[in-house]
Amino acid sequence: MSKKLWIIVSAVLVFGMLFAACAPAAPAAEEAAPAEAAAPAEQAAAPTEAPAEAAAPAEEAALPKIGATIYKFDDNFMSFVRRAIETGMEGKAELILNDSQNDQAKQNEQVDTMISKGVQALAINLVNPQGASAIIAKAKEAGLPVVFFNKEPSAEDMASYDKCWYVGTRSAESGEMQGQIIVDSWKANPAWDKNGDGVMQYVLLKGEPGHPDAEARTKYAVETVVNAGIQVEELELQTGMWDSVKGKELMDAWLAKHGDAIEYVIANNDAMALGAIASLQAEGYFTGDKFMPVVGVDAIPDALVQIKAGTLVGSVLNDAANQGKATVDLALNVAMGKDPLDGTNWTLDEVKAVRVPYLGITLDNITVAEESYK
Ligand code: BGC
Ligand code: CA
Repeated sequence: MSKKLWIIVSAVLVFGMLFAACAPAAPAAEEAAPAEAAAPAEQAAAPTEAPAEAAAPAEEAALPKIGATIYKFDDNFMSFVRRAIETGMEGKAELILNDSQNDQAKQNEQVDTMISKGVQALAINLVNPQGASAIIAKAKEAGLPVVFFNKEPSAEDMASYDKCWYVGTRSAESGEMQGQIIVDSWKANPAWDKNGDGVMQYVLLKGEPGHPDAEARTKYAVETVVNAGIQVEELELQTGMWDSVKGKELMDAWLAKHGDAIEYVIANNDAMALGAIASLQAEGYFTGDKFMPVVGVDAIPDALVQIKAGTLVGSVLNDAANQGKATVDLALNVAMGKDPLDGTNWTLDEVKAVRVPYLGITLDNITVAEESYK
């Protein structure tokens, strides 16, 4: 109930008590339902521009206006970051949130529109990591601060503007942690070397080429395995563009070609790992003793279900909740002209980036990931 309404209701009650012997009881105040967070699993196309729930008109004027983009709403992991941003901005900012639909030109137009609507800060999940310079140029011209998140701009772009920051992770860390899960599981299961040649024959589902996370995970996962003294042979490596359907299609083709000669499926993210698992299940894997190890990154809820079912060896927690929170914290601060870290515990590195830590997840510590995605 708004303050105004409350005053009116109170006044009515007082007058009622003063002037009537038996004033009727005031109707129970109807609690305003909290704005529903978008269901993360929901992949339906949302309107390109969904302004956050309008606050009461009197308060609205005081809230900073923040313009945000998500590279595409139809990305499993980003739907969780998006939810964290929407929740974090509730009641604190007037949020303009755009689905860039995987189109950098569209995102650039969305930035123009948001600037013309008078936003005080931008929070940008780039479509193309190389797209930062064009957006920085627009922000510079308008004198606006920018917080990039999830897709890291080059160090050069970051250095080109003192009012831009980045919220993400240290990409290499996820590769190293995924690699460690592979090492531990391979050593614990000698039977996984199905042809007994002492070499791990693997296939790798890569994320978007040129995406710092995809490049680093691909490099460091394999490097960690090799550094642990395990010989490897790459049977296939292709991009599944972070996508479940593409992951399944690639795995279908690879299974048809190599079958059980594949001894490990390494996926740059869980969405593609889930696609691979679906492909394997269709070929009768995970029943009886037909098995093939699969590993992912993100530790999204659907993947945790698979870890519990024994169809996914492990994943690496990509902390969507905290990445969303850090994005909100920094964007709110800079929108109000404050220091980006004001009132927070985040720290910035040499390229003005907040790095949220990853965590390797297997059945042993699965509750940590479950809590994080609650
Ligand atoms: C996540 C992927 C996601 C990508 C989007 C990565 O950090 O692991 O699941 O598709 O970000 O940019
Ligand atoms: Ca082998």
